[in-house]
Amino acid sequence: MKEQLEALRAAALKEIADSDDLAALEAARVRFLGKKGEITAILKQMGGLSPEERPVMGQLANTVRAAVEEAIEEEQRKLKDKLKDLKLAAETVDVTMPGKKAAPGHRHPLSIVLDEVKDIFIGMGFSIATGPEIEWDYYNFEALNIPEGHPARDTQDTFYITEKMLLRTQTSPCQIRYMEGHKPPIRMIAPGRVFRSDPVDATHSPLFHQIEGLVVDKDITMADLKGNLLTLAKKLYGEDTEIRLRPHHFPFTEPSCEIDVSCFRCHGKGCSMCKNEGWIEILGAGMVHPKVLERGGIDPEVYSGYAFGLGVERLAMFRFAVDDMRLFYDNDLRFLNQF
Ligand code: DAH
Repeated sequence: MKEQLEALRAAALKEIADSDDLAALEAARVRFLGKKGEITAILKQMGGLSPEERPVMGQLANTVRAAVEEAIEEEQRKLKDKLKDLKLAAETVDVTMPGKKAAPGHRHPLSIVLDEVKDIFIGMGFSIATGPEIEWDYYNFEALNIPEGHPARDTQDTFYITEKMLLRTQTSPCQIRYMEGHKPPIRMIAPGRVFRSDPVDATHSPLFHQIEGLVVDKDITMADLKGNLLTLAKKLYGEDTEIRLRPHHFPFTEPSCEIDVSCFRCHGKGCSMCKNEGWIEILGAGMVHPKVLERGGIDPEVYSGYAFGLGVERLAMFRFAVDDMRLFYDNDLRFLNQF
């Protein structure tokens, strides 16, 4: 029995030491110390020994069992440590590795121009207003002195929803809405989307963007209009920019004009950008028509004002030398990444 015990101790210690993982170690424990284990079996034979042998063998058997148990515990600790090391190694973050570059995205060229214009006007004390894209015929036409039968009301140009409701064709209805809600002095710009049933080409789109401007106070004259819009032109295109007012007609202003800026590429000499004119038209403007002031609830005998409307796409096309408006809506990253 003594040899048997010694042999078992050696076999058990070897198998424990050879265990590569916790499962193998558990198998070794079951094999030697489990209920039907080999050491357990010997311990069960103790009863059959003589009274002299029993304490000696008993002590030896206990020593063997204790040694094997201790070896298992020791091995278990080692294997657990090994596992932990492996896990830590697998989860290590190499802080010196180059990071994945996050594409930050780009501001859309139309947003860039829009924000620039907004900043310029906010700097001159203007507020920002908005109006609905689905608009009443009344605000889009009637109140702006565009009477029934006027060519601008043609279904060829306007997306009608019902007879009285439409997609606004201009941001000018914001003038009326603003006057309805505010008393003079008024200084506001209203940027937004407008819609016209134009076929798509390099300079037309059924959806585009305008910025409306309205100033109403006592003693506002054409000189205020000219001064403020000259400031806009200089801030947009440089201090040496000049403007030129050409007579024009808009139903909601009287007198009306179109405003050109001196070509910022050739400075008036003539080039492909300005089609050899030396000047580029950037907006429509005029003194608010008395009938329009009246519709806004403002007495034209006391107050006067000026208004203007500019096309954001047009500004952006000149600003970034883009010759096809469709590029703004295609969402082609090769185009957008350039801004
Ligand atoms: N609403 C005009 C258009 O869409 C632009 C415009 C011209 C607006 C003159 C104005 C203005 O406020 O005074 O063509």
